[in-house]
Amino acid sequence: MTANIPFDDATLPPKKVDFCESWYSPDIKDLPVETRDLFEQYSRIPAEDVVDHIQKMRSRAWDIYPYPCIGQLRFLNLSLSRHPLYPEVLARLRPQIDLETQRLESLNISGKSSGISYIHSSPQVLLDLGCCLAQDLRKLVFDGVPSEKLYGLDVEKGFIDLSYDLFNDHTTFKSQFVIADMLLADVSRDSALDADSSTDGLSADSIPAPTSLASLENRISVVVANSIFHLYNYADQLRLAKRVVRLLSPERGSLILGRQVGSSQPGEYNAVNNQGTRYAHDATSFRRFWDQVAEDIGGGCKFRVETVLDEEEIGDNKDQGQHWSEPNNRRMRFGVWRE
Ligand SMILES: C[S@@+](CC[C@H](N)C(=O)[O-])C[C@H]1O[C@@H](n2cnc3c(N)ncnc32)[C@H](O)[C@@H]1O
Repeated sequence: MTANIPFDDATLPPKKVDFCESWYSPDIKDLPVETRDLFEQYSRIPAEDVVDHIQKMRSRAWDIYPYPCIGQLRFLNLSLSRHPLYPEVLARLRPQIDLETQRLESLNISGKSSGISYIHSSPQVLLDLGCCLAQDLRKLVFDGVPSEKLYGLDVEKGFIDLSYDLFNDHTTFKSQFVIADMLLADVSRDSALDADSSTDGLSADSIPAPTSLASLENRISVVVANSIFHLYNYADQLRLAKRVVRLLSPERGSLILGRQVGSSQPGEYNAVNNQGTRYAHDATSFRRFWDQVAEDIGGGCKFRVETVLDEEEIGDNKDQGQHWSEPNNRRMRFGVWRE
């Protein structure tokens, strides 16, 4: 652990990552049944070809950037659908919610009734922040959400392009993507990035053109933030969070949810790319973090924050010689609602 290291300036993770072979699992051993269903029924890949198809696409993704979730095949877990708040997400986004203003009961982080409900009147739309291969968006569509209500954002255009090949949905998937670095993002910069990416093309005519970050401001009802905040040190997480809140609908109940690596001992730890640090939270530090975000934003901004920490999925990492792996690592799942 490297505590109290001065924060670096915001930088993108460098392309070259040391030691990454240690988190490359060569074979797909157990494909979860939900994932197989997605590839067979949504992507219409013949059952006998599914594993081979995923292996080939995973190699291409690994060449773009060797994230542990790609090397360890964790993107196949469809983690949003395993999040305790997934039923709340589906309830907001499935078609019937558009019909009129609705009061919807919010769950708590254990997936049980919270006794809290929110009135939703603006159209519910979801953004997958750091969507990578956008597997969670495809799962939402498979589970009945219209793809037009979904957006993905990533700094790596290559992941987004590849996602259409992975899911074989070039003509049917109508979600729009933003290609932007959320740590550089101010509105003028976004426009430049979007102009670049549209001329560079998400190629096929049937694929929606990339949209701009500015066009999403104050519109997003649900932000999915799986495995993105934890890449960064505390100062960069704060900048990221404040940028994300600008995208969030001003309605009470707008939600940011996700999973990330937390810790039983919060602090700065070695970053995955071995450059600088990543801050790992526990429940208390995460609460304090969002209080700080609210205070910095001002104007009466408040959040309801819930977390759960456990060891699931983290155990795999311990024996793989990963320099960023720590015995204190815990999986953290969270929900942050605008109050
Ligand atoms: C560890 S991957 C997680 C991907 C996906 N959310 C999942 O859970 O499988 C992190 C993703 O966030 C993207 N990302 C990291 N920093 C970013 C930034 N500053 N702006 C936009 N995207 C970023 C990366 O390109 C990558 O696709």
